[in-house]
Amino acid sequence: MNTRVVENMGKYTGQVLEEVFSREVIEKRIDELAKQISTDYAGKVPILIGVLNGSVFFLADLAKRLDIDCEMDFIKVSSYHSGTQSSGTVRLLKDISCIITDRDVIIVEDIIDSGLTARFLKHRILENQPASVAFASLLFKPECLKLEFEAEYVGFEVADRFLVGYGLDLDQKFRNLPSIWAFPVNMNL
Ligand code: IMP
Ligand code: MG
Repeated sequence: MNTRVVENMGKYTGQVLEEVFSREVIEKRIDELAKQISTDYAGKVPILIGVLNGSVFFLADLAKRLDIDCEMDFIKVSSYHSGTQSSGTVRLLKDISCIITDRDVIIVEDIIDSGLTARFLKHRILENQPASVAFASLLFKPECLKLEFEAEYVGFEVADRFLVGYGLDLDQKFRNLPSIWAFPVNMNL
């Protein structure tokens, strides 16, 4: 098991992170998702809408592996004040700038935790009457879901642990780690 010690991060300093998905495992799974999406959207040109900031690596790796044409845009919301605690409310910080009416939209997210962000995003996109909306999330924590939500494309289901890396952050740090790491179980972050 690969581990790394958190440095220079206040109360998190000294915590030992465990690698849960290596680069190779992530890339292999994204290959599979890209194949599935390419088949499902054959003959169509979907717009991938990446949810900033966390989904940027996933969106880039997924888009590069698609065999079909696609377009891309971004939306930004905030659902966390700081640390690992959700504020429970979702705010729109940056809207999409493309027209999605009558288009096939795939929302691309890093992780679904409570599902509040995912639901907010799906409603927001549906207001613009797209031809279809699907949700692709690299990670999904089924134990944490607070409402009914089903994503069409999920990379990995994960247990209720706080994850960082490959786009996922803790107070804006760790996003640039190329693989996915978990904070210790039962750690009070
Ligand atoms: P939700 O609205 O509770 O589903 O939270 C979704 C958002 O919370 C994601 O877009 C992430 O930005 C963030 N999030 C949830 N769980 C984690 C995690 O384990 N690590 C890092 N960010 C997370
Ligand atoms: Mg996010």
